[in-house]
Order: sequence, then structure tokens, then C-alpha cells
Amino acid sequence: MDHELRKRGTSGLEVACDPFGLMARPSAIMECHMNVQPQLVLEHVSMVFRSEDLNFTALAPIDFEVPAGKFVSLIGPSGCGKSTIFNITAGLQPPTTGRVMIDGEDATGTIGQVGYMLQKDLLLPWRTVLDNVALGMEIRGVPMAEARERALPLLQRYGLGGFEKRYPSALSGGMRQRAALLRTLLIDVDVILLDEPFGALDAQTKSQMQEWLLQLFRDFGRTVIFVTHDVEEAIFLSDDIYVMASRPGRIIDKMSIDLPRPRERSVVSSPRFVAMKQYCLDLLRTAAGQPPQAAAA
Ligand SMILES: Nc1ncnc2c1ncn2[C@@H]1O[C@H](COP(=O)(O)OP(=O)(O)O)[C@@H](O)[C@H]1O
Ligand SMILES: [Mg+2]
Repeated sequence: MDHELRKRGTSGLEVACDPFGLMARPSAIMECHMNVQPQLVLEHVSMVFRSEDLNFTALAPIDFEVPAGKFVSLIGPSGCGKSTIFNITAGLQPPTTGRVMIDGEDATGTIGQVGYMLQKDLLLPWRTVLDNVALGMEIRGVPMAEARERALPLLQRYGLGGFEKRYPSALSGGMRQRAALLRTLLIDVDVILLDEPFGALDAQTKSQMQEWLLQLFRDFGRTVIFVTHDVEEAIFLSDDIYVMASRPGRIIDKMSIDLPRPRERSVVSSPRFVAMKQYCLDLLRTAAGQPPQAAAA
């Protein structure tokens, strides 16, 4: 058995992790990797914006880690530093202190290591939907014809079939977000940052998009970090939630969401879900200087 495992696994880690015969289940292997080294770690990252007369602490030192293949959300009030965390993680903004580690390597200030979907979808209006989705690959050097060939079946599979040759102006808000998300996913990186992708959508579209995103998450097996204001959305989607407060921006709690997957919409009315939602809302209210809801009622 040992010999057989050594033939199959090239890293000592896989061999060491297999006494229970998990080799055939990639997700289980991921769990083993996860225990050894998270895919993304922010170590003591802080951000002070300096101007002539003022130093503004947008982010007090935070520590944050995301295991491979997990869906982790950041939730907190506007201005608590969520987008700043993303800008630092994506290498667009050097932190004042601390470092960003990806797969154990220092990636501070290095761009191109993660996929980043900004709050606005930023589709190029002069490109067709297909060419917008193919753009991420094109930027990374994939020839245009090949990028289109890879993007086309995904458009058809993930709800944009028939819109390939249309321009972004012809799409609904939800469809624009689908295109922007597929573009981000098609950049061949393991870690994807999504900054409030559904924040501007109506409630029904948002709910459809959440289910669509869970399907994508299952199919693509990427590590996702997701920013939202919406507590229900964060719990429905996530494995872990980091709850933030402002002035200065900081992490005040980490919640593990132990609801089984795949998740059906009906989970939102389960007692466990409702209790987690209440706990998170109370945390946010307390951090904002308001009494918890139960006490306020
Ligand atoms: N380039 C900048 N210069 C000065 N202040 C900034 C800059 N970028 C963001 N901030 C401030 O940092 C705080 C956190 O911003 P941000 O990360 O965008 O918050 P969030 O995404 O949580 O709404 C806010 O008060 C914002 O005004
Ligand atoms: Mg933001």
C-alpha cells in the first residue's frame, strides 16, 4: 500500500495524508494541503493613507487566511477597508506593514497572481460579450482564436448562450456580472477576488446569481474571496466569514459556516442559518455602536 501510494503521489504530503485511502478524492487531498498551508495569507497587513496634513488608518493590522478551494467572505460596513484588502492582495497597493503570502511565497506588491473582479463590471463596451470574456486570457498571452474557442462553451453553459456576439449594452445587470465573472475565472489563477459583484442587482436577480456562483464554485474548484454587505448572502455562499468594523478598519470575528454543501435556497430558513445570521447582524450592530437587535426590540 505504501509503495503504491508513493508511486501515485509525488509530494510527501499526499503520501502522508493518505492513511485513510483518500487519494481518489481530490477535495480530500485539498483538505490535507489546507491543514498544512493555506493558499492565501495576509500577515499583519495594515494601510495608512498619508496626505500632507493627515495620516488616515484605513486598516489596522489584520491577519487573514484562506485555505485552498474554500469560499471566504469579508463583510463589514462601507469604508471599513474591504476593497483596500483586495487592492493589497492583488498587488495594486503596497501595504504600510505586513505581507501577502500566496502558496507560501511572498507575493506582496506582485500583480497577476490572483483574479480580481472590481465592484464595477468594467466590460469593454466596444467588444462583444465573447471577446470580453476572452479578454483575461488574451492579456495573459493566449492567442485570440484560442481564447474565443475556450470561452464559447462556457458562455453557452453558464447562461450567456445566444449573447456571444452582442455588446455589453444589450445585457441585463445580471448578465453583465456573469460575463465579468467568467472573464475573471478564465484567467488561469487559483485565487479569485470578487468585490461586491451582486451589490447593484435587484433581490431576485441577486438570488439567482448566488446560486449560479455556487455552481461555478463547484465546477471550477477555485479559492474565492468575496466581499459583501449582505449577511444572508455571505452565509449562504461561504465556508468562513471574516466580520469587519471601521475606524480603523479591522477584523472583529471569524465565523465558520458549517452548513453542508450543496446548499439549497431553503437553507436560509433553517434554525442554524437564522441563528448565524442573527449573531453576525448583532456583531455588526455592536461594532457600529448600536444595541443588538434582540435587545433593541
Ligand atoms: N487612495 C486612498 N487615499 C485615501 N483614503 C483612501 C484611499 N482609498 C481608500 N481610502 C479610504 O480608506 C477607507 C477604506 O476604503 P475601502 O477599502 O474602499 O472601504 P470599503 O471597500 O470597505 O467600503 C475609506 O475611508 C476610504 O475613504
Ligand atoms: Mg469597497
